[in-house]
Order: sequence, then C-alpha cells, then structure tokens
Amino acid sequence: MSARYEVRDGIAVITLDNPPVNGLGHATRSDVAAGVARAEADAAVKAVVLTGAGKAFSGGADIREFGSPKAAAEPNLGTLIKVVDGCSKPVVAAIHSVCMGGGLELALGCHYRVAVAGASIALPEVKLGLLPGAGGTQRLPRVLGVETALNMIVSGEPVKSELLAMQPGQRLFDQLIEGDLMTGALAFAADVGARHAGGAPLPRVRSLPATDPNPDGYFQFARNTVKAMAKNFPAPARCVDAVEASVKRSFEDGMAYERELFMALMFTPESKALRHAFFGERAASKIPDVPEDTPVRKIAKVAVIGAGTMGGGISMNFLNAGIPVVILETRQDALDRGLATIARNYESQVKKGKLKSDVYQQRMSLLTPTLSYDDIKDADLVIEAVFEEMGVKETVFKKLDQAAKPGAILATNTSTLNVDTIASFTRRPADVVGLHFFSPANVMKLLEVVRGKATAKDVLATVMAMAKVIKKTAVVSGVCDGFIGNRMVEQYIRQSGFLLDEGCTPSQVDRAIEKFGFAMGPFRMSDLAGNDIGWAIRKRRAVEFPNIRYSKTADLLCEKGRFGQKTGAGWYDYKAGQRDAIASAEVEQMIVDYRKTIGRAPRKVGEEEIVQRLVYSLVNEAARILEEGIANKASDIDMVYLTGYGFPLFRGGPLCYADSQGLFNVVRAMQHFGLNPHDDAGFWQPAPLLARLVAEGKSFT
Ligand SMILES: NC(=O)c1ccc[n+]([C@@H]2O[C@H](COP(=O)([O-])OP(=O)(O)OC[C@H]3O[C@@H](n4cnc5c(N)ncnc54)[C@H](O)[C@@H]3O)[C@@H](O)[C@H]2O)c1
Repeated sequence: MSARYEVRDGIAVITLDNPPVNGLGHATRSDVAAGVARAEADAAVKAVVLTGAGKAFSGGADIREFGSPKAAAEPNLGTLIKVVDGCSKPVVAAIHSVCMGGGLELALGCHYRVAVAGASIALPEVKLGLLPGAGGTQRLPRVLGVETALNMIVSGEPVKSELLAMQPGQRLFDQLIEGDLMTGALAFAADVGARHAGGAPLPRVRSLPATDPNPDGYFQFARNTVKAMAKNFPAPARCVDAVEASVKRSFEDGMAYERELFMALMFTPESKALRHAFFGERAASKIPDVPEDTPVRKIAKVAVIGAGTMGGGISMNFLNAGIPVVILETRQDALDRGLATIARNYESQVKKGKLKSDVYQQRMSLLTPTLSYDDIKDADLVIEAVFEEMGVKETVFKKLDQAAKPGAILATNTSTLNVDTIASFTRRPADVVGLHFFSPANVMKLLEVVRGKATAKDVLATVMAMAKVIKKTAVVSGVCDGFIGNRMVEQYIRQSGFLLDEGCTPSQVDRAIEKFGFAMGPFRMSDLAGNDIGWAIRKRRAVEFPNIRYSKTADLLCEKGRFGQKTGAGWYDYKAGQRDAIASAEVEQMIVDYRKTIGRAPRKVGEEEIVQRLVYSLVNEAARILEEGIANKASDIDMVYLTGYGFPLFRGGPLCYADSQGLFNVVRAMQHFGLNPHDDAGFWQPAPLLARLVAEGKSFT
C-alpha cells in the first residue's frame, strides 16, 4: 500500500504512505489517482483531503525509481496532477514537515492548501541541474508572485510555511492551521465541501494570473543576476525562462514550454554531473559486503590523540555535533596551544556572526583536555592524529590497546602510513580503522575511511553512520600508498612538474586547470598546503620506489626555502598577510635555468594538453585503483575528488568527466602522451580496466 484511503464524516482522506518521505513512485501515484476516482464516485463524499503519513507530506519524486521506466509510467506526475485538478469535488492538500519538488507540484494541483507552521516548502530540482517539470514553474508564480517564486525555483532552497503564509496577497495557503493538522484540515474540507456542494466552481491555480508590473525589466535583471551566480550551470537561467513564460504565455503554452526546457536540461552534461554526484553521495555510504542492517556500535564519547592541526579540527566536528571529546597530548604546552587554536577558530566564527556565543560556550564545555590515558578509558571511538612517524604511531597504539575499553574503535588519521601495520600494534586489529580527515578538518567534507585487512564490518558500518552525524561524505578506501585521493593526486602533481620542464610556467598550468573549473591549480594548491610536505614524501618515496621520475623543480624550490604561503614565498610570491598568488620572476628563472641543465628546449604547450594531461593522469590512476579493489566503485572516486580536491562539480568528478569525453578518446590521448619522450611512457600505458571498457564499449559510471 503506497497511499491509504478512508472516509471520515463525508470527507475522503487520501494519505500518502511511502516511507521515508512519501516519494511519488508509480504505486503511490496510482493509489492517489484511484483514491480520487473513488471519492468522486461516492455520493457520500463531499470533499477530499490529501496528506502524507510520517515524516513528510511528500519529498517529491521517488529517487529509487530515478532512471527506471517506472518513473514515467502512467499515471505519471503530470497526469496525476491533472486528475487532482480536474476532480469535481474540492481537494485540499494538508501539508506538514516536508513538501518539496513533485510533492509541492501535486499540492499546487489541489484546489485548496492548508499547512501547519514549520513545514519546509521547496522546488529543489535546480540542484540536480533541472527545473520543476510538472507545472511548478507555472503554478508557483501564480500563488506567490513572480519574484518569490523565482527565488525559490532558482535557489532550490526550502522556505518555512509560516513565512510564505505571511506574504501579502499569497494564494499558496488558504489557511495556516494551529494545533492538529488533520483536525483543522477536516474542518476546512467540510466547510469547502458545503460551499461547493451546489456546484460553485472550484478554484484552480492554473486559472489565476501570473503578473509583474514590469516583466521585461524584471526578467532582464533576473537573468543578469543568475548568469553571475551560476556561470557553469545552465539550469538557473532556464528557470528564469520558464517563469517568464508563466507571465507571458497561456497556462497551456507555459506548461509545454516548461516540459521542453526540462527535457533539454535532462540531457545536459551539467545535470548528468549533478545527478551523478547526488547518487554518488548516497552510494558512497553503501559497502558491497557490509549489509545495511549490520549492527552499529554506540558512539557517545570520542577521544582524540594529538592536539595539532588535525587533532583540533577533528575534535571540532564532534563538538559541533554535541558529542563530548577528550583530547590528549604528551605535554601541557602542546595541549594549551591546541585548545587555544580550537577556541580561536570558534571565536572567529562568533565574530563573523556565524556562531552564537552561548553555543560556542556549550561546545567548549564538551571538550576535556588531558595528559593521561586514564581519561580515555570510556571513549567509544579514539582518533589518533599524532606525528606521521611509524614509531610514534606504534607507541600510541600500544598505549591505546592497554587503555581503551573493549569494543572501542581505534582510528588513525594517518595520510601515508600502512593501516594494517598500525593495527598490528594492538591485540584487536579488527577494531582498528583509518579515518583520513582532510585539512582543515572542521571544514572539508571528505572523510576517507581506510579499511584494513582485519577491520570488522560493524566497525565500518559504525564509522560510516558516524560520518553522517558529523556531516562528512565518507568514502571507503583499501590500504595503499596515498589511499584513493592522494595516490591519484601524486600523478597529477607529477604531470604538472613535467609541464614545467617542457615549457610551462606555474601560472600557465594553474590558469588552464582553473579555467577547466578546478577551485585551485596544482601550484597554488601546493603553496597553500606547504611545499615541504611533498618534499618529505618524495624523499621517502625515493628510497621505497627509486624508479619514479619527477621534475626536479619542486625540490629546487624547497631548497630555496620557498615552502609556500606560510613562508611568504613558494611557486608564487605573496605579500605579507595576503593570499593572492603573484607570478614569481625568481621561480620562472629557476625553471628556465633548470631546463638548461637538462638540455631541454622549451616548447609552447596548449591549454588543452595541460588540462588533458592533468585530468587523464587522475583517470588512469583511478582505473588502477578500481581494478585493484582499493575503491569499491567509480562514483566513490568521483566523490573523493568532488568533496576533497576541488574538482568542478559541473563535470561530476574525473571518471564522470572521462565518460563524457568518451573513453576511446581518453585512451587515444593517453597513448599520444606516452609517445612524449619527456613524459612517463610507463604511466601512460592505459590501465587494463580502461582498455577493457573501451574494447567492450562501456563506461566507468
Ligand atoms: N596536516 C594535514 O594536512 C593532514 C591531513 C590529513 C592527515 N594528516 C595526518 O594527521 C596526523 C597529524 O598531523 P598534523 O598535521 O595534525 O600534525 P601536527 O604536528 O600539527 O600535530 C601533531 C600533534 O601530535 C602531538 N603528539 C605527538 N606525539 C604524540 C603522542 N605520542 N601522544 C600524543 N600527542 C602526540 C604533537 O604534540 C602535536 O601537537 C598525521 O598522521 C598526518 O599525516 C595531516
């Protein structure tokens, strides 16, 4: 049963009942249409109330049906809305909690709407690169006015029902119900039932005018605003077009135009990318061999070992979620420094008005500093963020093994060390997992969950659930050097170095990839993170993997002490206290001199080559990571890059982008790069998985 039908005192009540949010799947749509027909046929019924069971009126389309034939099967949403709109008896939508997307479009097809305060009202389709496709762009302006409606449609953001009900002249809600919604809705329905019993015409949103005193001026203004805000996304501008049609065309023409725009957006790469990211986010929390009903352990108290850069940021995540944290250091001064940094971070949020002062106090009161392992005995989850040295990790994990209670999850935030080795320092490797936060840990969305060979399934299920509580996008990675994200970025950084050797300047490379859409090019990123970090990693890798080739320019840069923003100079120059990257004559000369020492004549490298070499290096390494089972699925890799590395959202991540270019073309470009004697021919050998996908005519996603 996806919608229930009952008659109460001459009022038919149709209750959407498709948990969790009454998505308008095929069965639900069919049940509602059948309910309306039944109410019309029953002479005893005077009016109909349409509402939703549980946590929502309706959240809109049933995302489980997305992309399947069922999504469009009749009665489709457009047909259902016609059925409701055409009903000969008054239909009253009784709205609570959540009324979004198709749910709001359905409500707009009803003759009357009542709501309780606090309901979230939205048309969020633009967030998937679409626009409301079942009349939302035509009906909402008719009840809320053009400006309010357009703001909601272009932003996709929810607005509270009581705020909308206060809008002068609004026709969205006929009544804001105080107290019990159903009681109020039934009384309202009885009233309108009586009013229309004699055949008085029913009010229909489509019959209302959508007006604006100066439509040409207003829509021009809206277009300019939207263009500046959403330059890489076509949907917001199409929303403006559709709403303009509600003013300038008949309802029927406007509906046809809305449909046309909707279908065109559906096929844009931007919408495909946004939908890929939307589903990728959901899919990331699913691990193939860990069933969804795996019991999870309780996480009511957390301990963080190390109060440095990462320890502080990690702690803040839990404090923000209301979870008490004990933070442990070896020395009082380090502990004091760590606490002061956390306090300073919160204080700057308070100053900017982003955090209330009492909330800040509340969060700090959840934080307990300590120098003693005795104080972490009752922690359910311990996250280690001490120095990146195996010896230090060994000391800490041996102590944790002694101190932590049985069943506590022991996590390491290591970026490069082997999680299995770290687990082996304990007598409980099944409880050990990697939780690789990204810096700044209180800001960055990505959390790589590193699954050791012994990590227990319920430990994984627990940390994946915990990630949602602290609002992270968690992606599972197997154990390998660099895990998913840094292992790929290593290839990207190597390519950016080769490009310098061949003739580029750092700003040429950054500019090309930033034009492609990256938040920051590799050299600006490296200056921000600190060039010394890569230097240390290269030194270590030179011992472990002596055959890996790098451009020497990055080492030369570090030998000059140009570690990046923190030293006021890196690949770029920086003015004191400013973050603007200024092209550095010294660095460019350094690169020119270096080319001479290796006897390389510079050539002009085009932007397309720069972008392809950087992005396809990610793709080739990603294919290897997938094939080795380090990542479970292609979309997981894309989520890592979208949430942790500033890959442009409108391109959907490296693998979604590769698919959009056609894998045949990607491989052809790789083979071409492999012929360049100054590049790394071995690396550009297309990964076997990639070659296989091309041979089979398949794609990653
Ligand atoms: N900084 C980053 O961008 C980043 C990103 C992801 C992961 N990581 C990883 O996080 C970990 C910490 O990095 P960080 O940048 O915060 O380093 P950091 O030097 O800022 O902080 C390390 C802290 O650990 C403390 N410490 C050292 N030994 C200790 C011990 N035995 N017991 C308790 N505390 C001890 C130190 O006093 C210091 O405050 C490393 O494993 C690093 O690889 C760092």
